[in-house]
Amino acid sequence: MKHKLDFVTETLEKIKTRNLYRKLQDNRVQGPYILFKKKKLINLCSNDYLGLGNSKISNMQLQSSSRLVAGNDFSFSILEKKLARHKSQESALIFPTGYMANLGSIPVLARKDDLILSDELNHASIIEACRLSDAKISVYKHNDNEDIRKKIRQKANRKFIITEGIFSMNGDFADLKKISEVAEKNDALLVLDDAHGDFVAGRDGKGSAEKFGVAKKIDVYVSSLSKGLGAFGGYIASRDKIIDLTVNASRPFIYTSALPSFIVDLALKRFSSKREKRRKKLWNNVKMIQNGLESIGYTFNSSSQIIPIIIGSEKKTMEFGKYLFDEGVFAQPIRYPTVALGSARIRLSVTALLTREHIERSLDIFESAGKKFRIL
Ligand SMILES: Cc1ncc(COP(=O)(O)O)c(C=O)c1O
Repeated sequence: MKHKLDFVTETLEKIKTRNLYRKLQDNRVQGPYILFKKKKLINLCSNDYLGLGNSKISNMQLQSSSRLVAGNDFSFSILEKKLARHKSQESALIFPTGYMANLGSIPVLARKDDLILSDELNHASIIEACRLSDAKISVYKHNDNEDIRKKIRQKANRKFIITEGIFSMNGDFADLKKISEVAEKNDALLVLDDAHGDFVAGRDGKGSAEKFGVAKKIDVYVSSLSKGLGAFGGYIASRDKIIDLTVNASRPFIYTSALPSFIVDLALKRFSSKREKRRKKLWNNVKMIQNGLESIGYTFNSSSQIIPIIIGSEKKTMEFGKYLFDEGVFAQPIRYPTVALGSARIRLSVTALLTREHIERSLDIFESAGKKFRIL
């Protein structure tokens, strides 16, 4: 007899046989380390790139209401003004997460008869946001300007190009100089999700577009407060009228509870903290790890704090990750559907919290892992 939940068991079995099964593991982050039960590992998986997420905050008050009702604590507008200035835009709008910032902005602007050009490696939240709009979606080859030029010729009412700044699973920068040229020539709106470049790349951590001198060419910035800023939440930054329309038409903005004000206070506190020294330390650490990995014999195409070691096989990648774990390094194996099947990888993320000793120890472990799994 079939049970009505047999399909759940069967789906889980299928995931397991493809080596794609995921399981939540209890852990606690402690400075540069991560604790699993009694095991303490060097954390090479943090998005808290500057290590700002380390300090605690009190005064935890919850308002539990939508921002358009009673949830708009005055701290939101203080932070939004700072974020707008940070991005050299007229206004900013905070969302509960970066994921929701994409869901809540792209469908407000892109409509039926419009065309969205989206990088094939764009984050799941961008993909989902494009699907929520009624626009035609045309996926272009990763960072391939020729493909964008070809695809943008399609007939459409309005045209959009959407890309990440630093690609979250590859660690490479979008070719924003060229992409912004094509956008300008075709009168297309350019949307940049800079979740990983914001507060990390460019002058004063203003982000990837600033790094390439094209900050003014971006029409809508989408970003996260949970990564480089070490706080929590997401935001968009753009012209006044785009923010105004978003407040009025964005379902993920209107129909959900506001972030608790203590989270906004936390983000404000992080925003005013001295971040430059940490940014310098982060980029020194990035250089040290990248040079170290290269001198051991690893190859990768990253120019940022996100470094993918592509192994290919899902099974081998899981075993590689387990070896690193047993030796004292936490670096998450990344598999389908986060990346394409057969392109499983170990994704390192570097933070400013790592010392020279952590890095040297990690490199030793990566060297022995590379030899053991014959990928060097
Ligand atoms: C490119 C990109 N956009 C958006 C997000 C979502 O940000 P958040 O974690 O704040 O929801 C992520 C998170 O990993 C991301 O990598």
